[in-house]
Amino acid sequence: MRHLVGLLLGTEQDWPAAFETVLRRLGPVKGVGEFDVERITIEPFDLRDSPRHDLVIDRLAYWYYHPREWLKKIAMMDDVYLLNSPFTFQSMEKQAAYCAMMRLGLKVPDTVLVPYKNPPDNTRYAYTAARYNRPFDLDEVADRIGYPLFMKPYDGGAWRGVSLVRDRAELHRAYDQSGEMLMHLQKAVEGYDVFARSLSIGAETMVMRFRPDEPMHARYAVDHEFLSPALGEEVVTIGRLVNAFFRWEFNSCETLVKGADVHPIDYANACPDVALTSLHYYFPWAIKALVRWSVFCVGTGRRPRLDLDTREYFAVTGSYEERLAAYRRLADAYFETDRYHDFCESRLRHLDEIVLDWVAGPDFDRLLVDTVTATYPAAERDRFVAHFRGLLGLWVKDSG
Ligand SMILES: Nc1ncnc2c1ncn2[C@@H]1O[C@H](COP(=O)(O)OP(=O)(O)O)[C@@H](O)[C@H]1O
Ligand SMILES: [Mg+2]
Repeated sequence: MRHLVGLLLGTEQDWPAAFETVLRRLGPVKGVGEFDVERITIEPFDLRDSPRHDLVIDRLAYWYYHPREWLKKIAMMDDVYLLNSPFTFQSMEKQAAYCAMMRLGLKVPDTVLVPYKNPPDNTRYAYTAARYNRPFDLDEVADRIGYPLFMKPYDGGAWRGVSLVRDRAELHRAYDQSGEMLMHLQKAVEGYDVFARSLSIGAETMVMRFRPDEPMHARYAVDHEFLSPALGEEVVTIGRLVNAFFRWEFNSCETLVKGADVHPIDYANACPDVALTSLHYYFPWAIKALVRWSVFCVGTGRRPRLDLDTREYFAVTGSYEERLAAYRRLADAYFETDRYHDFCESRLRHLDEIVLDWVAGPDFDRLLVDTVTATYPAAERDRFVAHFRGLLGLWVKDSG
């Protein structure tokens, strides 16, 4: 039996090449069959056509609407397995995730959505606004939240339009500049101890120490003990909860940890950063997890779930800790976490060795050099090749 995985890609070359290599080296999986992988092209599609793919990994639909609509069609009509539900993961909208997390009792900082600064481009606006827009006092809204605060687009990504606002002058400057973007004002978590960024791929989560003030290549620190075991579990649980709740299986989540409190700030990243030059040490894990989860979903005939169980989650009561424990059970049931680990243990044990050999060998080094060459100016290439070789060498040493 042959199964086909489709990749819906934009400009990335690094992880897709890695994924293709590893999936091909994996060979036939016991009781499951063989896997092929291909890159999907964009062309007219008949809504009644049957796709050839068993599973599609999407990196494009958050900004390119034609393939987005194709994803909805193959999800709705053909049961193709998608890692993120196209119905809840449209764009990178944060608002719905904030609402869900607040209702679920998570410690999201206070957040207000303010109306557009500039009118949306619609001929009905002038009449509607004159009739129904209530004048509001931006200073008063900000005073209620308290400074410092963040002003950021409700559907943001990649820090576009995000500003730290410390006083009234900055508030008005940021709002004036927001133009036609719809903005949240959100209380800043000040003086946090650590920024934990977790990347979830199916039932696996990697929690990484993130340093937002560093340049791109140094944002993820290699640090295995920056959170206590209890806080680490809490961060994993929150990520798994939000992902299970919305049917997201390839997502990154940002939490600010201050003392004993975990504050989620950004939980909807439809196209999480998995670049080799960002993840470096963690890149081989991400590729393995993508391969494992894809093979598990196809191999066990896991059914894509487009329906939501919101009621089940909202019915959970008790203290914060009790609720988290109950959410974790619901989320683990959704992700079939135990079954997944059994599957990896019984069918995919050889993957570790395949990836270790590959990362330690010349093919991976070529990918690394090509990626650095495509990413950095010529004058910086040697330095960055050495930098990333060092980090991946460390991973090989730690994993050997
Ligand atoms: N409430 C907050 N408290 C502290 N820092 C924040 C807060 N909101 C955003 N930030 C900072 O701004 C960055 C971008 O905000 P985020 O909500 O993650 O937007 P994006 O989707 O563009 O990544 C975060 O990584 C963090 O450094
Ligand atoms: Mg973010």
